[in-house]
Amino acid sequence: MDDLKSKYLTLIDSVGDETGLEDLRVQALGKKGEISLQMRELGKMTPEERQTAGPALNALKDEINSALIAKKSALGDAALDARLRSEWLDVTLPARDRPAGSIHPISQVTEEVTAIFADMGFSVAEGPQIESDWYNFDALNIPGHHPARAEMDTFYTHRSDGDDRPPHVLRTHTSPVQIRTMEAQGAPLRIICPGRVYRADYDQTHTPMFNQIEGLAIDKDISMANLKWVLEEFAAAFFEVDKIEVRFRASHFPFTEPSAEIDFRCSWVDGQLKLGEGDDWLEAGGSGMVHPKVLEAAGVDSSVYQGFAFGLGIDRLAMLKYGIPDLRAFFDSDLRWLRHYGFQPRDVPTLHGGLSK
Ligand code: DAH
Repeated sequence: MDDLKSKYLTLIDSVGDETGLEDLRVQALGKKGEISLQMRELGKMTPEERQTAGPALNALKDEINSALIAKKSALGDAALDARLRSEWLDVTLPARDRPAGSIHPISQVTEEVTAIFADMGFSVAEGPQIESDWYNFDALNIPGHHPARAEMDTFYTHRSDGDDRPPHVLRTHTSPVQIRTMEAQGAPLRIICPGRVYRADYDQTHTPMFNQIEGLAIDKDISMANLKWVLEEFAAAFFEVDKIEVRFRASHFPFTEPSAEIDFRCSWVDGQLKLGEGDDWLEAGGSGMVHPKVLEAAGVDSSVYQGFAFGLGIDRLAMLKYGIPDLRAFFDSDLRWLRHYGFQPRDVPTLHGGLSK
């Protein structure tokens, strides 16, 4: 028994893997194992012999068993150690990109435009999309009978029978935010107002909802020259070219006097738009010096203050800058389109970091 014991303890001690260990278990304690065979011999012994041999054999069996169990756990620990040593993970590596949605071109362009005007000292103002007809029209010097009201294809909200207050409208432009902000902040003032506007119109270049950005600067000594400089600075920064010439074309808006259509110098080469050079002009929006009646409607003293205003189409700016042909696609929510034209959420546009990426 002592021979068996030292034989197996030595073998268990030196075995190097779990299969070897299992072989040893079978060899010693399996059905036909050496120790099991010894156990069977007990039956042939005299009772006296059995009394000493029985407990001794049992003790041997227990000892071998414990040695097997201890070795098994030691081998497991060693295997784990080896794996931990060979497998490693660099937690400082950047995470793998996961498709996580994209920034819509309208949002991207709104951010870009905002960054540029913020750099020129304009802050962002907002107003409601459901507007009273006073803010949307009257305060902007568009009285009830004015043809501009009919031209704008306005959506009117419904009033219940007997309610004879004038209906609210879905704002047809961002200009009412001029009034609301002047009322709230007074003058001087320098703001831009990006947002959704609504008109009952639908074709390749018109959707019933679209986006505008309004600009307003009020102070004591503001002129059309300031307006022109601001628009030129904006256009060059937005289209990421050195310089863009801006042309004013005489026009009429009820809320500005004088009024001017804004054109950017451009050319079309093989269907590709180039801004800043060439013999063509691109219509970008409307502008002018704020009409005294508008200032008065908003509680600003027009004998002391004056200023300029402008309105640009955000969707149109996005289409021009990023070569998007059909306005309607902006609002289709087609995932393939969004993946193609969308922007990376982490690439926030800044003037110094680059507006678009
Ligand atoms: N509100 C005008 C529109 O939607 C655009 C506009 C023209 C805005 C001239 C202005 C402006 O601020 O001065 O058609």
